[in-house]
Amino acid sequence: MSIKKQESYQETLDKEEAKREGVGEYADFNDAEEAAKEQAARDQRALEDRQLPPDPDALLEVRHLKKYFSLKKTVTGKTTLWLRAVDDVSFKLKAGETLGIVGESGCGKTTLGRTILKLHQPTDGQIFFEGQDIAKYKPAQMRPLRTQMQIIFQDPYSSLPPRSTVGGILSEPVKVHKIVPNDEIKDYVLKIMEQCGLRDYYYERYPHEFSGGQRQRICIARALTVNPKLVVCDEPVSALDVSIQAQIINLLKKLQNTMGFTYLFISHDLSVVKHISDQIGVMYLGSMVEFGDKKSIFTNPLHPYTQALFSAVPNPNPDVKMNRIVLKGDIPSPANPPKGCKFHTRCPRAMEICSHIAPVYKEYEPGHFAACHCYPQED
Ligand SMILES: Nc1ncnc2c1ncn2[C@@H]1O[C@H](COP(=O)(O)OP(=O)(O)OP(=O)(O)O)[C@@H](O)[C@H]1O
Ligand code: SF4
Ligand SMILES: [Mg+2]
Repeated sequence: MSIKKQESYQETLDKEEAKREGVGEYADFNDAEEAAKEQAARDQRALEDRQLPPDPDALLEVRHLKKYFSLKKTVTGKTTLWLRAVDDVSFKLKAGETLGIVGESGCGKTTLGRTILKLHQPTDGQIFFEGQDIAKYKPAQMRPLRTQMQIIFQDPYSSLPPRSTVGGILSEPVKVHKIVPNDEIKDYVLKIMEQCGLRDYYYERYPHEFSGGQRQRICIARALTVNPKLVVCDEPVSALDVSIQAQIINLLKKLQNTMGFTYLFISHDLSVVKHISDQIGVMYLGSMVEFGDKKSIFTNPLHPYTQALFSAVPNPNPDVKMNRIVLKGDIPSPANPPKGCKFHTRCPRAMEICSHIAPVYKEYEPGHFAACHCYPQED
């Protein structure tokens, strides 16, 4: 005869707590089956979105963009391990606006920027640039668009050829893309140099003669010589001294006001992003976890990852107490991301559902998107 064990008071409390938190609800849950269902639902959404016309108000519209790198292959060439550097990212950016992309190292910011510019071939998804889907364009089809999309890199030391003069570096793209007649190139370049705060006698000098800030001005001038519409700035100030950073950011802003550029501004420095951006996208392990205009993202961050990142931004007002949220644990590998919500292994608000089901990326206020189970998942 079996005797039923009397439940202790603590066990009763634990059970009630577990019921509230949903613990045990997923005990018999088949993660693999659920992941397959989720994937099918995501593929279906991507398929439906693919049919929609591009937004005429957006200079750049990215839909369900993926860039996976093959890490391991069999002898027959079949990939057995993928690194999901950019995993189903969607957003829109209007002409003349700046989108700041933030997130910890390795979250896929650079890969996103490079894939949009087609410096990486996308694995899947759509990239509408001025209404044309360039995702599947071949290099020859991209050539006429190259002048309209430029990139400024983080390291102004290695991104300039050491044996060319500033004049040579800035004239080359003008010549190659036939921006102005040959006899007008020098005047054209000198005008751009002036706009970028470079003296005209620098024309004959070599990159090694300049400081980091001046070299970054040369890189900016080089990007501008071809009169682009979209400029991807990949950590353009992180290699520079703080005082120089402000000058370069102000130069980028001034050029945007006078020439109407659209920037995709990648940085892990939230103060810089706050200063320059109109829209902000927060990435974690290849996914966009939150996206919205600067005001909503800073005043009402929805995603626990955004809340943690922004809690570390210093407030200039000494009376405002900082409630810093310190994230525990290492960033998982994008080659083997956690199941369910990719952030659940580090999230201070994680619930049981989070380790089983990935949250849907949804619009919670006009233009403000997030992917988190703390908010309603159904339409
Ligand atoms: N060519 C490549 N082949 C394989 N993996 C790559 C390649 N380029 C990037 N990765 C991987 O993709 C992930 C995203 O890298 P990415 O450089 O885009 O991150 P990031 O957010 O720009 O990081 P950081 O802030 O350090 O610049 C990383 O895990 C990186 O190792
Ligand atoms: S879904 Fe869960 S784990 Fe992911 S961010 Fe939201 S609360 Fe945290
Ligand atoms: Mg990077």
